[in-house]
Amino acid sequence: MTATTATTFMRIFRDDRPQEAVLETSDGDIIASELDEIGVRFERWDADAELPAGADQATVIEAYRSSVDKLMSECSYTSVDVIRLERGAPNAGALRTKFLDEHQHGEDEVRFFVEGRGAFYLHVGPRVYQVICVRGDLIGVPAGTKHWFDMGPDPEFTAVRLFINPDGWVAKFTGDTIASQFPKLDS
Ligand SMILES: [Fe+2]
Repeated sequence: MTATTATTFMRIFRDDRPQEAVLETSDGDIIASELDEIGVRFERWDADAELPAGADQATVIEAYRSSVDKLMSECSYTSVDVIRLERGAPNAGALRTKFLDEHQHGEDEVRFFVEGRGAFYLHVGPRVYQVICVRGDLIGVPAGTKHWFDMGPDPEFTAVRLFINPDGWVAKFTGDTIASQFPKLDS
């Protein structure tokens, strides 16, 4: 994969006005503080390991071993895996669709992006927070938060996923079509 110079970007919308953001920022401190107010963890970590093409889960975890160990010991996560998509992946369309509708989990959704980018959408109260996460971003979405995720039409990202109980990470769809009204990752 190619290194990206992209930066994190956040837009906040009213949930009934998807065409007009009330706040747009790429300032990491503002992003962290706005997300902290809704109980979402956002931090920037070092993520400068160069991963070989075709790196498997073990290779990615080993490359980020010290960060993974630190997170696991600090936050009582018990398991870790990696989701990695390279451009042109044959299963990308199906995977994108899977997380593109509003849903909740009985488990925190914790992602440490170590390559590429993807957009989280958090629907909290009357607001929708679109957070485009890039390499180095750590986001922790608490259990029960309504959200969706767009990896884009030709995804390219690697994220380490941390779980307290991976069995709890089952998507419960809300049945709300709100996600279809909001701008996608690349729009
Ligand atoms: Fe999710």
